[in-house]
This record gives sequence, structure tokens and C-alpha cells, in this order.
Amino acid sequence: MRILYVVGTRPNFVKTAPVIGALRARHPEGRHAIVHTGQHYDRLMSEVILEELGVPAPDHMLEVGSGSHAAQTARTMERLEPVLLDESPDLVMVPGDVNSTLAAALTAVKMGIPVAHIESGLRSFDMTMPEEVNRIVADRFAEWLFLHSDEAVENLRAEGIPDERMQMVGNTMIDTLVALEDRFRTAGSAARLGLEPGSYLLVTLHRPALVDGPLLGETVAQLASLSRQMPVVFPVHPRTRKMMEGLEPDAPGLHLIDPLGYLDFLSLIADAGAVLTDSGGIQEETTYLGVPCFTLRDNTERPVTIRAGTNTLLGLDPAAITRIPSALAERPSETPEPPPLWDGHASERIAEILA
Ligand code: UD1
Repeated sequence: MRILYVVGTRPNFVKTAPVIGALRARHPEGRHAIVHTGQHYDRLMSEVILEELGVPAPDHMLEVGSGSHAAQTARTMERLEPVLLDESPDLVMVPGDVNSTLAAALTAVKMGIPVAHIESGLRSFDMTMPEEVNRIVADRFAEWLFLHSDEAVENLRAEGIPDERMQMVGNTMIDTLVALEDRFRTAGSAARLGLEPGSYLLVTLHRPALVDGPLLGETVAQLASLSRQMPVVFPVHPRTRKMMEGLEPDAPGLHLIDPLGYLDFLSLIADAGAVLTDSGGIQEETTYLGVPCFTLRDNTERPVTIRAGTNTLLGLDPAAITRIPSALAERPSETPEPPPLWDGHASERIAEILA
């Protein structure tokens, strides 16, 4: 069995690492080639995370870097094609919904190589999100669709995708979390930042709809104001850092810090009083950990995190940040159970199915 895994961004590594581990364990004699497209390339966004997750050094580095959507996608396709010719895999595995996912799925399918899509079937129904386009294309062309929530089945059926291609396996991002839980639970990252566990709001924001325009300044002003009531810690994604130049407010309770490694970040989520985010993966991680999450978007492709989890959609509205303290005071005391199959064994199910 020859499998080629294509990853490019921080969340891709988290979703794919346990799948590589499970398939290697099951087929030690097989070829397991890892391609890193280089969509994320800063040490803090790439090497640090890969090392922590125990992902072997990639076999191929495409070094595509940043660019417009067309340029980044085209560069990935152009550089991946010779690798696929050379490796001649039986299967190309792509995770998530980033530009690297789209590029790899398209390149492989045009070469007649079967594609497997991890985290298939999520839909925000918002075509202005680049990720929505990427997911739809990957799902349309992948032969193996690995699903993590019931709503994915309905979404895919509505697009005419036959049930035979769908495999409900659970959440591979949660596999990584479960595997490293002992380590991040003892990492003590909040204390190192001088923060009391349970007291602070952890923030991540990076989506173009929020950070590439005037909403970013309004959001930072709201966070500065909230930080007088509760400490706010905000590891800033490189995209957001660029857009934030000149916006850093003078607010001692607002800690703007560099992106963190996986263990430090999960330690901060686990100990947070609440999380404010526009990320998809963090809506899932907070759901699993039972930490209140507020999502600063108009929609989510992960409604399961609202229905069965701890997520609240605030809308794409910085003023809604003022509602966080009262929402926390009113929230029910019981923590819901994680959704079915978010149990740390999704990757083993994938390996079983492919066997
Ligand atoms: C990408 C994904 C997004 C995912 C996010 C996770 C797409 C369309 N977007 O967004 O779905 O949620 O990754 O983090 O695929 N940059 C750096 N260093 C890096 C990477 C990026 O400085 O290592 C800066 C560059 O200015 C770049 C910008 O961030 O132009 C955006 O990077 P890009 O990979 O295009 O998208 P992300 O915002 O990271």
C-alpha cells in the first residue's frame, strides 16, 4: 500500500498526524510519503507543531509559501504533479479545507489517483469563505469521504454524493487531543503567562472577513475594554499580526503574544474561562474539553459544536464581545458529552476501513 499525505497548514498537521500513525502501524511495510506544501512556513506555524505531534520529517517540501488564492493553488498543483508521478501512490490523503487541500485533490484526481478526504461534509453555506469552495471541490472528487458528524451526511446527500462514499469515523483532531492530553494538562502554560486558570478569555482570530478590514480595529478595541473585567490572552496569527500594525492598544490586561505550539495552546484552552475565536478547529476542541466558546462569525460549518457542545455563535459583530461576561454567568453548570465518535479512535477506524 502506497499512501501520500498532503499537508500544508497548522490545523492540517493536527488532523493528519494520528491518521499517519494509525496507517503506519497497520501497514509498516507500506510506503507512507508526507508532502508539506509550505502554505504555512513560519517556524511557529509549522516545524514546532510537527515536532510536537511526532510527525516524521516530510519526504517532500513544496515550499509554495503565501500568495493570492490562484497563485498559491496553482503553485501547489504544479509542484505536486511531479511528486505524484515519482511516488505513484495508490491513495492521496488530504485533510480539511485549506488551499493545499483543494490543490492536492484536483491534482490527484486528474492523474487518476484516488483521493481520501479527512473531515468531509462540513458546510457553512457561505461561498464567500474560501474554505467552503475548497471543501466542496475536495468532497466532489474524493472517493473516500471520512466524516465526523451527522450533519455531514445530510450535506453530502444534498449535493448528490452517494452514501457508499461516506464513512462515519469520528474526529481525527480529537484523536490528537486525546493522545496528548496528559502532556498538555500538565504544561501549565497559563501560570507561565501569569494567568489564573479559569479566569481569562483566550482569543484567536485570523479569517479574512474579520481581520482584513475595519472589523479588526473594532474587535481589538472591544477586547481592550473587556480586559478591564477579565484578562485576555491573544496569540496572534501572522496574517492578523500584519493587519494589526498600529492597532495595539494600551491595555495591561490584553496580552498579545506570538503563535503558540500545540501543547501550550491546548493547555491554555483547557484552563481558559472562555474562548473567543473564528477558527473551525477550536470550536471542536472547546466542545470536547467542555470550555465555553464564543464564535465571532455569522455562521459555522460545525453546528454540532452548538447543538452538542459549548459553542455560541456571536455573529460577525465586535460589539457582541460585550455579551461574553453575562453569557458566562448564565450558562448551565453541566458540561455536555462530546459528540459520538469524538473519542480518540477515529484514525484507527480510517485505517480499518482502508485495510
Ligand atoms: C489558512 C487557511 C484557513 C485556515 C488557516 C489556519 C486557506 C484559504 N486558508 O489561512 O482556512 O483556517 O490557514 O491557520 O487555505 N503567513 C505568514 N506565515 C505563515 C503563513 C502565513 O506570515 O507561516 C501570512 C502571510 O502574510 C500570508 C497570510 O498569513 O499571506 C495568509 O496565509 P494563508 O496561508 O494564505 O492563509 P491563512 O490566513 O493562514
